[in-house]
Amino acid sequence: AATDHAAHLGAAGEFAPRAAASGPVVTPFTQCMPVPPVLAPTSTVGGVDAYTIEVRPADVEIVPGLRTPAYTYAGHFTGPTIRARAGRPATVAFTNRLTTPTNVHLHGGHVAPDSDGHPMDQLAPGAAKVYEYPNTQRAATLWYHDHTHALEADHVYRGLHGFYLIEDPAERRLGLPSGDFDVPVMLRNAELDATGAFVFGGHPDNRTVVMANGKAQPYFPVAPRKYRFRLLNAALKHVFRLSLGGAEMTKIGTDGGLLPAPVPLTEVSISSGERVEVVIDFARWAGRGPVHLYDGDNPIIRFDVAPGRVADPSRVPPTLRPLPPLGTPTVERTVTMSMDMSLRPPIALMNGRPYDPSRADVSVRRGTTEIWNVVNEDLDPAFPFDHPFHMHLMQFRVIGRDGGPPLPEDAGLKDTVYVGPRGSVRLQVTFDTPFTGEYLAHCHFLEHSALGMMLRMDVLP
Ligand code: C2O
Ligand code: CU
Repeated sequence: AATDHAAHLGAAGEFAPRAAASGPVVTPFTQCMPVPPVLAPTSTVGGVDAYTIEVRPADVEIVPGLRTPAYTYAGHFTGPTIRARAGRPATVAFTNRLTTPTNVHLHGGHVAPDSDGHPMDQLAPGAAKVYEYPNTQRAATLWYHDHTHALEADHVYRGLHGFYLIEDPAERRLGLPSGDFDVPVMLRNAELDATGAFVFGGHPDNRTVVMANGKAQPYFPVAPRKYRFRLLNAALKHVFRLSLGGAEMTKIGTDGGLLPAPVPLTEVSISSGERVEVVIDFARWAGRGPVHLYDGDNPIIRFDVAPGRVADPSRVPPTLRPLPPLGTPTVERTVTMSMDMSLRPPIALMNGRPYDPSRADVSVRRGTTEIWNVVNEDLDPAFPFDHPFHMHLMQFRVIGRDGGPPLPEDAGLKDTVYVGPRGSVRLQVTFDTPFTGEYLAHCHFLEHSALGMMLRMDVLP
């Protein structure tokens, strides 16, 4: 398996030979941020919503005037959004029209192993597969993306990512902004060459383009009222530090759904794979502005706020949704993440070994509650790697960080959590699932997982 990872890196990855500095200069705020189209089911027979998606190449326009050859779901660079309803199963038939194998993982989804997008469970070019999504979990912002063995970084970088939202009546009753005022926003970056093509090089002088819903630094016209934004970090390797330049926003949800209560804040970070939901009330800027969403000091979206007053029946109630009870842990284990930088290209390890699909690294019993001590073992100050840790199948809770209590931003249901250099996270998870079989846990810097920073997690009866 290590050889596969190394071979892959000859073509792509942060450790590949560096390309020369290049890239288009983006004039910010010249294109409007699109909202990814919502996919309609092709049938709804027997209470099951059946969807169809072709995975195919398409030229997309990230920077105005440049064509970027991409891999897409149904031709859309942020794939079509599936809006599923809790308690109502969905199937998605994916057909591979690429010349490379692919598969699909529903990130954050509670699904059976044969629909989880196991790295070795691949659709050859021309093949099709129907994935089954039971939608038995609470309302949440999930996403789907490629998970092909050792190629996931390359494929997601080229565009295989889309939103999958689960909605339920309990959430609808709260009266949060909905319809046109409930906007999924996929944030990511990429390096492009002067022609617009994706570059895999990691050269520090390469121009990095930051996109929202597939457009480089777009503007987005808004009414002077409240909006719900479902923010997803789909970058291969980046931590977004999001703010409105000091103005307040209200955090309402995390990876696994709503928080117990809204949290006002002025800055929120998300690492690769994570989601955060915020409500922004633009009424205070009616006819004034513009207002920017920043990543650190870099403005990435300009909100153009219309003047005047509009009726806004939406609200953010003082209590949102209680979290499920924590359970009593009976098992505790340690999981480590590290890079072996003595090799060129390096390999990436969990529990000291690169991923091998034929080896079960962790076996958990269905129904048990476990504590995982997730440790970033990269102690060399020359290589201070972040490693966002992601567990398939379940949502967990962060109960400690860096030897102390969790940070306020660790609250809520999570499937992906930032683990900083020399850092650690304690998480608690209850495997209350009908499913048994092979799942995964891995670093969600997908260049690291493609290099082996992934472990096989078997759920036993
Ligand atoms: Cu979003 Cu196994 O990944
Ligand atoms: Cu990592």
